[in-house]
Amino acid sequence: MAVAEEDIHVPIDRDVDVVTAREKGRELASRLGFSRTDLTLIATAISEVARNIVVYAGHGELVISPAQQGERCGIAILARDQGPGIPDIGKAMLDGFSTGKSLGLGLPGARRMMDEFEINSTVGAGTTVAMRKWVR
Ligand SMILES: Nc1ncnc2c1ncn2[C@@H]1O[C@H](COP(=O)(O)OP(=O)(O)OP(=O)(O)O)[C@@H](O)[C@H]1O
Ligand SMILES: [Mg+2]
Repeated sequence: MAVAEEDIHVPIDRDVDVVTAREKGRELASRLGFSRTDLTLIATAISEVARNIVVYAGHGELVISPAQQGERCGIAILARDQGPGIPDIGKAMLDGFSTGKSLGLGLPGARRMMDEFEINSTVGAGTTVAMRKWVR
């Protein structure tokens, strides 16, 4: 059993915090033994959910931690905010849907880059995105 690692909490308020979350996530993923390709995918998925917090919620946090399930080990990323929420998650997960005149690729892209992806949102209460990826 590996030495227990602390969860990494990164408050997200502005662009520079997105970079911090990305770097801390990449560093933990590297220690966990992910391939270089996977490190890029994980860092990109982290950037996308963190950037959404800055753009749409204004404030929130990321919690990045090692994950274990039976024999598998991996990384867990939780992004949460108490922003305006997403009225239609089905639409938000479609390639090309954006309320921000952006590309609308962040959430569906992050889902494809990770092994597990769960989004929950309540209008007026906030949004959480939980993602995991396993070392192979
Ligand atoms: N944390 C959030 N709080 C509120 N709304 C969100 C949040 N994250 C995403 N959304 C909504 O979901 C839509 C889709 O998000 P997604 O990241 O896929 O695309 P985008 O941010 O619009 O564009 P891109 O990420 O490609 O720059 C957003 O346009 C926004 O309406
Ligand atoms: Mg986005």
